[in-house]
Amino acid sequence: MSAPTRAQALKSLRQTLAEAGFETAALDARLLLLSVLKVPAMELITNPDLPLTPDESEHLRTLTQRRLAHEPVARIVGEREFWGLPFALSPETLVPRPDTETVVETALDLLPDRQAPLLMADFGTGSGCILVALLHELPQAMGLGVDLSLGAIETARRNAWANGVGERTLFALSRWAEAVSGRFDLIVSNPPYIASPVIPILDREVREHDPLLALDGGPDGLEPYRILLKEAQRLLVPGGLLVVEIGYDQAEDLTSLAGQNGLEIIRIAHDLSDNPRCVAMRRP
Ligand SMILES: C[S@@+](CC[C@H](N)C(=O)[O-])C[C@H]1O[C@@H](n2cnc3c(N)ncnc32)[C@H](O)[C@@H]1O
Repeated sequence: MSAPTRAQALKSLRQTLAEAGFETAALDARLLLLSVLKVPAMELITNPDLPLTPDESEHLRTLTQRRLAHEPVARIVGEREFWGLPFALSPETLVPRPDTETVVETALDLLPDRQAPLLMADFGTGSGCILVALLHELPQAMGLGVDLSLGAIETARRNAWANGVGERTLFALSRWAEAVSGRFDLIVSNPPYIASPVIPILDREVREHDPLLALDGGPDGLEPYRILLKEAQRLLVPGGLLVVEIGYDQAEDLTSLAGQNGLEIIRIAHDLSDNPRCVAMRRP
């Protein structure tokens, strides 16, 4: 049998995934094929009739099996786009979610001067996506990325350099702010915020493939916020901003935690599904 062309391979993979019930079959098929071919997306349009080599066909079969076993596409291809930038992943990093762009948008919107030499910190930096996206938009800013996972720190550092902001970053292995001193103009965080009892019933792709350290927010999902909001008093300059991602049902809890820690809520931003997704606070 002759080797399938790129267009044939794409169509057949899309069909296989759709028949297996994957709602994003068309996108998944395209990303998996591009990862095998190692070519830009346009190539599928400009050169659809090139046949796959035997190695490419074999590689595509392996990736297809992994997808059929419900491994997320981003994990299979080892990369995910966030804020229009590519982020490499490792087993220790969460796959960046589109909803997290709400944190970046909100922080940018609240900063009075994007050219200012701001000092930022990102607690639970993971792949570094929030910090790197912000540094990309704030050309004079410097940023500290903190994580408790060494693998995440290494991946975040790699992503910062690959996206051209490496020289304005510093990364630290720390349990939240335990090893951090100094004062920041902006603190951002997308901490783990899922209540421990909910973890076993999460979607399989999340439960089996995202690191537990990136998900588990303690008995009620609020433990990291209690720590971070308390630390904000010590770490923010007066007037400094703390912008955090939250679970869709945590806005009320965050409002009361902010009050207990002397922080003023200045915005609750919603995600694309119109859920409260981000809380911005100011240290008076
Ligand atoms: C929900 S993930 C967010 C990752 C990334 N910022 C993003 O938005 O995709 C939370 C991150 O917090 C880190 N983390 C969990 N507990 C921590 C702790 N005690 N101190 C520092 N980082 C922690 C995890 O390793 C993980 O990278």
